[in-house]
Amino acid sequence: MNYPFWVVPIIGSGWVIGGIAIIHILISHFAVGGGLYLPMAERKALLEGRDDWMKVLRGHARFFLILTGVFGAATGVGIWFAIGLANPEGTSTLIHNFVFGWAIEWTFFLVELTTAAVYYYTWGRIPDKLHLMVGWVYAAFSFLTLVIINGILTFMLTPGDAWLAVAGTGNEASRFWQAFFNPTYWPSLGLRTLVCVSLAGVWALVTASRIDGFEQPDLKSSVIRWSSKWLVPAFILMPVFFLWYLHMVPFEQRGLIKLGIATIGQGVFTQVTRATLVTIMSSATIAIIVYFLAFRNPRDFTFGHALAVLFLALAATASTEQAREMLRKPYVVGQHMYSNGVRKNSDVARFNKEGYLTHSVWATEEDRAAWARIDAQKTPEGKPVFAAQLPESDQAIQHARGELILRGQCMACHTTDGYRSLRRLLQERDREAIGNVLQMLHEYKDDSPYRAYMPPLVGTSAEIVALGDYLDHLVNSGKKQPKPVTVAEVPQAAPATP
Ligand code: HEC
Repeated sequence: MNYPFWVVPIIGSGWVIGGIAIIHILISHFAVGGGLYLPMAERKALLEGRDDWMKVLRGHARFFLILTGVFGAATGVGIWFAIGLANPEGTSTLIHNFVFGWAIEWTFFLVELTTAAVYYYTWGRIPDKLHLMVGWVYAAFSFLTLVIINGILTFMLTPGDAWLAVAGTGNEASRFWQAFFNPTYWPSLGLRTLVCVSLAGVWALVTASRIDGFEQPDLKSSVIRWSSKWLVPAFILMPVFFLWYLHMVPFEQRGLIKLGIATIGQGVFTQVTRATLVTIMSSATIAIIVYFLAFRNPRDFTFGHALAVLFLALAATASTEQAREMLRKPYVVGQHMYSNGVRKNSDVARFNKEGYLTHSVWATEEDRAAWARIDAQKTPEGKPVFAAQLPESDQAIQHARGELILRGQCMACHTTDGYRSLRRLLQERDREAIGNVLQMLHEYKDDSPYRAYMPPLVGTSAEIVALGDYLDHLVNSGKKQPKPVTVAEVPQAAPATP
């Protein structure tokens, strides 16, 4: 509540994170998988005395260094900027719980970057054995960065009972290890490792596709065949780890998948189901392309084919990550903090009682005085007065108040006009219907369908009226007023027959 809200028009702040994260995931998982690929391929080339392989590998190492060291690192920092802006409360929770985790991560990362550079720049300049050793050190440290970050990422979905028991008490850090090795830690580490290994194969295909198949048919075939095999473990083991992972997700969080599966017949998928289907279809297409075009016909495998595989891998990555994010809704830290930074156990009751904006630094004392004056006005039946009935200056005050609540509680997931646009989602509703939706969100009954993906709306009843007024203004004020009826158009009433 004390942080500013970052409103990103059209795409919403979530997609700023998403856009950076998808690229980062594609590169960072390659940084881990490729770290294993390079020394293994180098070892094979040394044992078999294949100088032509060494040349290709050197080129691949250069590409690897630039892609991971520049674009991987820049997008990684980009994620920090984006999450810090989009969800300061959640980011702060992660930092406070995992201070030492982050510190270790940065140390590993430094070793990773350094060895990657040393590996490339010492190519052919130091003894082969030593060079290979540098490659293995790189592989170990890049895998360790995954080992660390995986604990923090899975924590957000499943913090685990031990940590939740102390959440909000100030003693959270005492459960560091339980939070780190949380319920989804191991299946997720397995899944991500498989993704790393297969992405190593995918990116190697990109490099290998550029070898001239006519001039060096044997070289091209051998590199492509060997690299294709890197995709095999993922295709065999991924379903196993995936089911294990889902099994570890708390029952309540699986609501969206069930909702999606239950509605398949009607064609109404939830985003989780849709994203899962995209993942399965793009992975199957990758398998087909890699088997028939790369493994069976390596000489004719073109750069275009490799880019198609890369693009499909991007689609699969994007949709899996989106499904993972959706699975976590409505929380940013599972069962503890909602996506809008409101804490389930400590904040909800407090905001409902004291008011969401009562202690907000984004409102002044004059604002609060004006709100109290407006709230004191009631209709003859004792109901709150909607903004439309107030004088224009008071309307503006209510709208500004509603907008503050909207920004704080809804804009983490919605925009006004773009992604999950509230103008679109509410377009059919008048002031009263909007009030009913807000009431449902506020009451948050056990059988409310909104519980599967939205946090409760918190605040006093007067604040909820203000939010409703602002939403009504947003949705309905731009609508055309019914055309004034001119006299000529009025159908002549049939003369009353006596
Ligand atoms: C955790 C993310 C999240 C937050 C926070 C959130 N929503 Fe939603 N909301 C969703 C999702 C997901 C949907 C489904 C969107 C769709 O169907 O396209 C949705 C749908 C809706 C709908 C359409 C529901 C219907 O029955 O037609 C309304 C209205 C809505 N949200 C209002 C709000 C308001 C008001 C707030 C703030 C008090 C809010 N939301 C906060 C995620 C969220």
